[in-house]
Amino acid sequence: MSLWSDFHQHRGRLIHKWDQYFPAYERHFARFRNQAVTIIEIGVGDGGSLQMWRRFFGPYARIVGIDSNVKAKAYEEHLTAIRVGDQTDRAFLDGVLAEFGPAQIVIDDGSHIMAHLHQTFAQLYYHPGFDSTGVYVVEDLHTAYWPEFGGGYRREGSFIETAKAQIDELHAQYARGAFQPTAFTAATLSMHIYDSMIVYERGRRVPNQSMMADSSGVRGVRLMFRPGTPGAAD
Ligand SMILES: C[S@@+](CC[C@H](N)C(=O)[O-])C[C@H]1O[C@@H](n2cnc3c(N)ncnc32)[C@H](O)[C@@H]1O
Repeated sequence: MSLWSDFHQHRGRLIHKWDQYFPAYERHFARFRNQAVTIIEIGVGDGGSLQMWRRFFGPYARIVGIDSNVKAKAYEEHLTAIRVGDQTDRAFLDGVLAEFGPAQIVIDDGSHIMAHLHQTFAQLYYHPGFDSTGVYVVEDLHTAYWPEFGGGYRREGSFIETAKAQIDELHAQYARGAFQPTAFTAATLSMHIYDSMIVYERGRRVPNQSMMADSSGVRGVRLMFRPGTPGAAD
């Protein structure tokens, strides 16, 4: 059953997700189904999404909900843990990863405030307790356009502006020294920008190689990227 169908049949606690997220969840989370993985969702709400993740990921998954509201604790179930704390509290997040890590998936569906998104991403994305081939999701990024969340069109500090800069960072090895690779460059295999949601896949091997294959076999052609090589764009 698709996650979208599952959502439509759900009669449990309230789930609050945008419809366009469902195909993206399926695309990026499929390889984790029925595996002994740890999924952390920041923002428990009424607890419904944790029930949906349990059905989707299966019996071996450890699901951890984080929420600053103590009422979330009531949604704890077998193999679904809730920890009450703030997503900007570094010690709290360290403690969650020490207790449950390594995590393979982090979903930030918490406050949606720009400063919080940045702080949580900076801490968890590079955290030793976050799997180096894991998936990190930031949801409800329409708030990046709303001043009350610290956002605004092309406003400094908006997470969408950060994502635009990250597209450059992803390509640092081709910048011919215009800027240097970052921790994000080294860690990130891909970033997928959807309406209101970004999915990051970790697991990069740098530098990437330009490859050729023909009757004489396969070979890498890294020299094509030598700084200043005319036409070195393949
Ligand atoms: C949109 S709801 C989560 C919805 C839920 N994930 C779902 O899909 O049904 C956002 C939740 O984030 C929590 N929250 C807000 N600010 C937070 C913060 N700074 N740290 C942790 N949780 C926060 C709220 O208490 C609320 O329960």
